[in-house]
Amino acid sequence: MKTLLTGDRPTGQLHLGHFVGSLRNRVALQDSGEYACFVEIADVQALTDNFANPQKVRDNVTEVACDYLAVGLDPAKTTIFIQSLVPVIADLTIYYMNLVTLARVERNPTVKSELRDKDFGAGIPVGFATYPISQAADITFCKADVVPVGADQAPMIEQTREIVRDFNRIYGCDVLKEPEGIYPDGDKVARLPGITGNDTKMSKSLNNAIFLADDPDTLRKKVKSMYTDPTHLKVADPGHIEGNTVFTYLDVFATAPDQVAEVAALKEQYQAGGLGDVKVKDYLFEVLDGLLAPIRERRATFAADKAQVLAMLRDGTERANAVAQQTLAEVKHAMKIDYFA
Ligand code: TRP
Repeated sequence: MKTLLTGDRPTGQLHLGHFVGSLRNRVALQDSGEYACFVEIADVQALTDNFANPQKVRDNVTEVACDYLAVGLDPAKTTIFIQSLVPVIADLTIYYMNLVTLARVERNPTVKSELRDKDFGAGIPVGFATYPISQAADITFCKADVVPVGADQAPMIEQTREIVRDFNRIYGCDVLKEPEGIYPDGDKVARLPGITGNDTKMSKSLNNAIFLADDPDTLRKKVKSMYTDPTHLKVADPGHIEGNTVFTYLDVFATAPDQVAEVAALKEQYQAGGLGDVKVKDYLFEVLDGLLAPIRERRATFAADKAQVLAMLRDGTERANAVAQQTLAEVKHAMKIDYFA
């Protein structure tokens, strides 16, 4: 059986962008039965740019765990664990650091663009600049074959593959496994715009997200406020559907056969004139609420029983540690630092 690993930084609740970009695919891969699945709550990585805000990271570990369980990650099939409680990841990070040059660290395009967006007043923390090395440790401690992630994570997979090749070559072994990224196909699925439209991707920090945990009133308000067609002033006017976020969402979420037919009819009427935004938004609300209501309900039962969620995390973390210990023993042997073996 192949091994799959992926993860998220616990810096906020998960939203619809995560759902279409990764979560639903993860659940499908889990349920395919083809993979031993590991999903990491990457608190150590979250701390690389939230080191002064530990309470936020701590709170979001359980929030993200509730989101996972709500969308259908099943702890009986997927090992869900907390990064900081698998210390082997820190050991591996230190060893891998010898294999990566400073110039290589500085070349990572995703880290570069994150550095542009963030404001590290006192300069770039070494921990942040080198988190891709730590991510290579995340991926390799369980010898993952595949890593389902968004396209922005491709540089991390590439860095991991380089480290694996170098490690195996330098230490004359084949202990580590070169992973493949699995990326979402199709543009509209890969990158869901936020509710303010204009091609900005959905993100908590941009304040344009619909969260899995949003209650129906919040969802309705957010849908009502969505960006549509600024030239569509009167109901009688013909409207545009390109770049119209409400229609973009309908294309992504209204995928049952009857919904597809309904959306086609709405598009036709909208473009001809005579259909107001309110009606289209009411329909989108119905579609999204149909998707989110069961997720929200399941989430509420987990959120009300934090002890159960923590027990699940503890169990997953124990399983991850068992696998990690095995890999570390092989790594230490290859590196000739298994002194008492
Ligand atoms: N860097 C990923 C993100 O920002 C999160 C992550 C941490 C991850 N460790 C991982 C993803 C290992 C895949 C595999 O979304």
